[in-house]
Amino acid sequence: MKNADNEQIANMTNTTNNTFAMDVIKGLQEIPKRLYPKYFYDSEGDKLFQEIMDSPEYYVTDSEMEIFTEQAAELSRQITRADQSFDLIELGPGDCSKTIFLLRQLNKDLISFNYLPIDISPDIIDQLEITLPHEIPGKMIKGYRGEYIEMLEKAIKESSRRKVILCLGANIGNMTKDEAMIFLKEIHDLMGSGDILITGFDLIKHPKTIRNAYDDAAGATSRFNLNLLHRINRELEANFEVSSFEHYCSYEPETGSCKSFLISLKAANVKIGKEQVTFTENEFIWTEISQKYTLRQIEELAYACGFIPSGHLTDSRKWFADTIWIKI
Ligand code: AVI
Repeated sequence: MKNADNEQIANMTNTTNNTFAMDVIKGLQEIPKRLYPKYFYDSEGDKLFQEIMDSPEYYVTDSEMEIFTEQAAELSRQITRADQSFDLIELGPGDCSKTIFLLRQLNKDLISFNYLPIDISPDIIDQLEITLPHEIPGKMIKGYRGEYIEMLEKAIKESSRRKVILCLGANIGNMTKDEAMIFLKEIHDLMGSGDILITGFDLIKHPKTIRNAYDDAAGATSRFNLNLLHRINRELEANFEVSSFEHYCSYEPETGSCKSFLISLKAANVKIGKEQVTFTENEFIWTEISQKYTLRQIEELAYACGFIPSGHLTDSRKWFADTIWIKI
């Protein structure tokens, strides 16, 4: 798309929705069409994601939860060093329901630490700053509201201790392998020698288990995916006929890529603000990747990003791994 076109799109929208509008229009004018998964999470999307997490087929959250409930003591042991306090920085803490087990364990182990959660959603940080002081009394909790890398840079500048960074929940899987490498290298470059990065990765498993998790029988994932079009209608003066689109998910064992699409069931002209986007029958919009990894691929990724992989914890089914990497 030319700069002049971008300018025209930017003018047509208000400032808050500018980036959203530009990404949507640009993504839908590309061939193949694509929308970014970060836009799933408006308040309706948050509710639908909760429904996915509660669905019997979606194993991801429960698998990582098992690691935190069963192995918090081991995790605490692996990240603490004799006589060294640290700052625990978390990218995307959500409601902290997994991390709280580690925070309580560190407290129990009499480790000196501060907790610095980072989230794009101010509501999430506001909530944690209210609830956590009761859970881990006496610990300093300082939240950062904004984009991960920008806020991480700020938090690291403000911290004078060793850093342990948490990036849980398979969020890294919502990036392509190339995007994940760029993101992890950016984190690496901000870290100091001896700092630790803990990342959650969803592991390769039976293809049917993965496909079912991203196409649950009750349709929560389908509603989550279609909500993206409802959101565009709500926020960008668009007129998608959402019932003419269908959720489709593919999983390719060869690449470990699970992908979600929205399929247009008929030819359509859709208005988005002053722009027009056309669809042919059966045309798809790629909306999400959920990349799965082997432990070997994770180790290779660690080295490629400049880290030394020092260990990992998996759940009892070996479906999910939290990996511990050190910057040397
Ligand atoms: C947030 N993220 C790790 C989820 C995943 O498993 O990729 C998002 C999701 N999309 C569909 N189901 C769950």
